[in-house]
Amino acid sequence: MTSLGGKKIILGVTGGIAAYKTAHLVRLLIKAGAEVQVIMTPASHQFVTPYTLATLSKKPAYTNFFNAGDQGGTWNNHVDLALWADLMIIAPATANTLAKMANGYCDNLLMAIYLSAKCPVMVAPAMDLDMYVHPTTERNLSLLESFGNIIIPAEDGELASGLIGKGRMAEPETIVTSVTNLFNANLPLKEKKLLITAGPTYEPIDPVRFIGNHSSGKMGFDIAFEAAKQGAKVILVTGPTNQKISHANVEVVHVMSALEMYNACHKYFGNVDAVIAAAAVADYRPKTVATEKIKKNSEEFIIEMDKNPDILASLGAIKNNQFLVGFALETQNEIENAKAKITKKNLDLIVLNSLKDEGAGFGKPTNKVTFIDRKFNIEPLELKPKEAVAKDIIDKIIKHYE
Ligand code: CTP
Repeated sequence: MTSLGGKKIILGVTGGIAAYKTAHLVRLLIKAGAEVQVIMTPASHQFVTPYTLATLSKKPAYTNFFNAGDQGGTWNNHVDLALWADLMIIAPATANTLAKMANGYCDNLLMAIYLSAKCPVMVAPAMDLDMYVHPTTERNLSLLESFGNIIIPAEDGELASGLIGKGRMAEPETIVTSVTNLFNANLPLKEKKLLITAGPTYEPIDPVRFIGNHSSGKMGFDIAFEAAKQGAKVILVTGPTNQKISHANVEVVHVMSALEMYNACHKYFGNVDAVIAAAAVADYRPKTVATEKIKKNSEEFIIEMDKNPDILASLGAIKNNQFLVGFALETQNEIENAKAKITKKNLDLIVLNSLKDEGAGFGKPTNKVTFIDRKFNIEPLELKPKEAVAKDIIDKIIKHYE
């Protein structure tokens, strides 16, 4: 793979535990054909050695303005280094470095290069979960975004502290994908932001029980990945699922119940160009949620339910120019029911699943769908892997914006 052939990249490494991953990152960038100049902050030496990164990048890794032990005192000219680069990546970017970048501090070589850089700058933050959601970090990240820097969001998972949450540096593979995307300016959804729902919802009965469904989330995750591959920024709002996704363009928002999914969707809806609702949202939720575990004291147990809001219909009711895609799962009068849903929910496209088709539906790797658009044009597709169905759906969005 030489997708980055000839590109000159400065990799800034700062002092967080994720610095150990930069050895792998340098290897991937070099393998992709890039020329890599590593610049380290003094604190980063405690997590990875300059010799490791120098060996892998085939260039000395600089930390200071002057090279230590050099009697002639050669100067690492920050302006020349900044102008040399086609791209600067700061990974991991600690909370401290983000604060310096946001405020113009210039107390090390890396910050001097950052201030001199005219090329795009990508930032992959890494820190513990509470630090990541602290208002100062959020403010610093949005300031950097307002300067035009590209943030590669931290990922969810196990952190060095032992806590679990958002704060892990994006995986080196994810960083390389976003670098490749950046240099690949012709991606058709580059300017677009998509909101995608996926998975089931769990409606709580008591602290240990819920009402759920068999949705695996695969369809929604495949759509999110395909959209990201085509350059879109994706907010993936998902109910509980085992699916995994790692792409720089995808931000995953985890929810549990239909009401949580409703709130998350409305939070992001104003800023997106299109919505694809692939979630299997529970239509009803228990009227009351017991605060303690319910004991089996009676022979019969009746749960009274309230209707959940229809998330997609609520977005259809307030949409401006957003392109809305819904799914329909019908067992009778399929086409007529699906058409009625287009009108009722104010959709632009519906993806009709028929449970009658073998190989289609929940938990299966394949799907057989029919597209119906706002003008009631009907387009039946073959049975195909869900990844291929995801591609067909994203193609529809690409065509809409052509
Ligand atoms: N949907 C939603 N919120 C709900 C229910 C459904 O956003 N509370 C979305 C689904 O993600 C899907 C579409 O609406 O894209 C179709 O859902 P479906 O369950 O097939 O249709 P309903 O409108 O619930 O109609 P019915 O009860 O007749 O099946």
